[in-house]
Amino acid sequence: MQIYVTKDYEAMSRKAAAVMAAQIIAKPDSILGLATGSSPVGLYQDLIAGCAAGDLDFSRITTVNLDEYAGLDGTHDQSYRYFMNTNLFDHVNVDKARTNVPNGKAPDPAAECVRYEAMLQKLGPADIQLLGMGRNGHIGFNEPDDVFTAPTHVVELTDSTIDANARFFASRDEVPKKALTMGVGAIMRARRVLVVVSGPDKAEAVKAAFAGPITPRVPASILQLHPDVVLVGDEAALAGLLETGVTACG
Ligand code: F6R
Repeated sequence: MQIYVTKDYEAMSRKAAAVMAAQIIAKPDSILGLATGSSPVGLYQDLIAGCAAGDLDFSRITTVNLDEYAGLDGTHDQSYRYFMNTNLFDHVNVDKARTNVPNGKAPDPAAECVRYEAMLQKLGPADIQLLGMGRNGHIGFNEPDDVFTAPTHVVELTDSTIDANARFFASRDEVPKKALTMGVGAIMRARRVLVVVSGPDKAEAVKAAFAGPITPRVPASILQLHPDVVLVGDEAALAGLLETGVTACG
């Protein structure tokens, strides 16, 4: 695993965007696994700037997103499809037909998960999978559980995740209670995994994930088994992990 420690969120975003940009430049038809949430917003802004400057070309890029709330249409301003359109896709020259997000409005969410997993299998592994991390160690919406679930599946969101996401909704009651998420199978199949973490409230989860036992109680801990993980975090988020004596690259 390569670990990069940065001063703050902006520096984290720049460094992680550079890793993503290198991938896009090296392989213009890359499959990018993407995430939503506050962690990747700065990174996406840097990619948008790179595209505007003519340094990055998304015209042959395919994207696969991790997850979507069940029950939200792509036009709902809290849906992850809407997030991706407004935070990245609308501002770069990606072909929207090659951007994939689970359909939260599918009448049968379980069938939608089967469709999404088949699509992922057909596409093949993502060249790079971007991940944020929940305070409880979740990746995508793979919440702490007794088992790791490999394929795309429907999840009941935990109280901790609903609390964390309530800030984006008018009230806690409006936060969907279920989501569709890529399982750990497709995440682990990605050729490279890029994790971005920022802020002190992530420190405990980051330490547990990368210095603790591999357990579905801390879903991100499975990344210890991945051969190519790049972890980019600010000092606050990495403080606990660095205390354990792991070595950072820069
Ligand atoms: C988002 C996702 C989630 C977030 C995680 C961290 O697509 O899959 O796992 O990455 O909840 O969220 P933020 O970045 O808002 O702290």
